[in-house]
Amino acid sequence: MNSNCKNNLAPAIFLDRDGTLIEDRGYLKNSDEVIFYPDTVQALIELQKKFKLFIVTNQQGIAEGILMRTEVDRVNDYVVEYLRQAGVEIVDTYVCPHRRPDNCACIKPKPLFLQQAAAEYNIDLYNSFAIGDHPHDVEFAWNGGLCGIYVMTGHGRRHLDKLHRDALIATDVADAAWLIINSQTTINDYAVERAATIIREGGIVAFPTETVYGLGADAFNVSAVEKIFVAKQRPYFDPLIVHIARMSQLDELIVAFPPAAKILAEVFWPGPLTLILPKSDKVPDIITAGLNTVAVRIPAHGTALRLLNAVATPVAAPSANKFGQISPTTVEHVLAQLRHDIDLTLNSDIPCEVGVESTIISFATGSPVLLRSGGISLEQIEPLIGKVTVKSAIDSDIDKSVVEAPGMLTKHYAPQTPLIYGSHHLPGDKKLRIGRLAFSQVDDSDNYAVVKVLSPSGNLEEAAQNLYAAMCELDDLGVELIIVDDIPVEGIGVAINDRLKRASSTV
Ligand code: TXA
Ligand code: MG
Repeated sequence: MNSNCKNNLAPAIFLDRDGTLIEDRGYLKNSDEVIFYPDTVQALIELQKKFKLFIVTNQQGIAEGILMRTEVDRVNDYVVEYLRQAGVEIVDTYVCPHRRPDNCACIKPKPLFLQQAAAEYNIDLYNSFAIGDHPHDVEFAWNGGLCGIYVMTGHGRRHLDKLHRDALIATDVADAAWLIINSQTTINDYAVERAATIIREGGIVAFPTETVYGLGADAFNVSAVEKIFVAKQRPYFDPLIVHIARMSQLDELIVAFPPAAKILAEVFWPGPLTLILPKSDKVPDIITAGLNTVAVRIPAHGTALRLLNAVATPVAAPSANKFGQISPTTVEHVLAQLRHDIDLTLNSDIPCEVGVESTIISFATGSPVLLRSGGISLEQIEPLIGKVTVKSAIDSDIDKSVVEAPGMLTKHYAPQTPLIYGSHHLPGDKKLRIGRLAFSQVDDSDNYAVVKVLSPSGNLEEAAQNLYAAMCELDDLGVELIIVDDIPVEGIGVAINDRLKRASSTV
């Protein structure tokens, strides 16, 4: 479908069951109650030429005590077997047995089953579709980064007024299949278009970049930008980075472009480098925390660039995490922190390749100052523009209320579990359940409850890419302490060390 699609990933169709594949006749207990819609089989035969097929169904009757799980399974098994005999393979069937008030993670429109299928069956969610007769089916798709198609069978007509006006509508599964097979726009274009519309209309959208996921809003819309601060619980004294698609957009953001800054932009953009430059009056104070400079970058990620291009106005975007917590490098981690606070999460099968945030170089005073180490190292920067002054909140005793880059706050990027840093702490206290975050392969893993290896071969780029996801995983495993190995302080290792020091800080 599109060039971003990796060869080993397969696109899929996630089918709602009742009212979509089969007639919705209330709580189905037996196979003899199942009636397929007339064109279902033929449509699925067409779709499976290109897509893996799954069924995802909410069956709250189980939690309500009206249905037994065995009855639901019986009906599902029948549907799958009937289709198999007709030449259609359903790869797997997912059932949410809960009621909405149970607040489970698996009920539509939550995308948990999509992510499980992606992990279990190598599904390319970004080029996949969900089809269903309820607005939840469409939101379910969007929440996972898929394209949702609403069908007018089943409850379709009844819930039409609750359907988002951007949703694609088909008369039935056969019509949906026709749309999917013949549509000229790819799901990527469609999802990005929707995300752009949301941002243009004042909403907030999480999107992938090559560093970490960002949470974006129209930079010129103050109330939209406020939503970012609210969602993240971020203090207003911490300014945001403005993301653009092309250099010409700088015209409305800055009033001066020092030659050294220009050199860096030309060499490293699109890429993990943020430049702090004198701002124009057009940039609202909420973005810059009242400073007279603005942070700008062009990210090097296809999805981010397509989104920025489609929005056509600069997008303010901090990392898509709650303030002070670990920046997300996967959709799962965005949703775990912000699921209920944002309008849409754009998914992508292109990973956050860098894995740590952009390097920030300030030109506020004319000569370059490094405010945050990141994806581009000083070894790459200094040969181009000469000596860069290094400012680090860890080493200096700066006043936090007037800090130049408040993201330099000492305690940052932190998991919930206490984290200590440096191999002098190894081997750990046997009384505690300790998780070890190892740089490369270890031979004493028995000393720990769990060991996560950042890069088996000791490659710093790979370690950076895996850092935050590994921290999140250790955090989720409920260990009592995380001990991290020493990591070489060179190249992107400087940024890794910086983040680990902040994560381990108790300040
Ligand atoms: O890689 C990245 O930079 C990611 C992706 C999403 O682009 N973004 C990111 O944003 O890390 P955030 O908000 O987590 O960090 C932005 C940093 C903060 O430390 C903030 O204080 C600093 O940039 N910053 C923003 N504007 C500034 C300004 N005018 N002067 C000094 N520092 C500024
Ligand atoms: Mg349905």
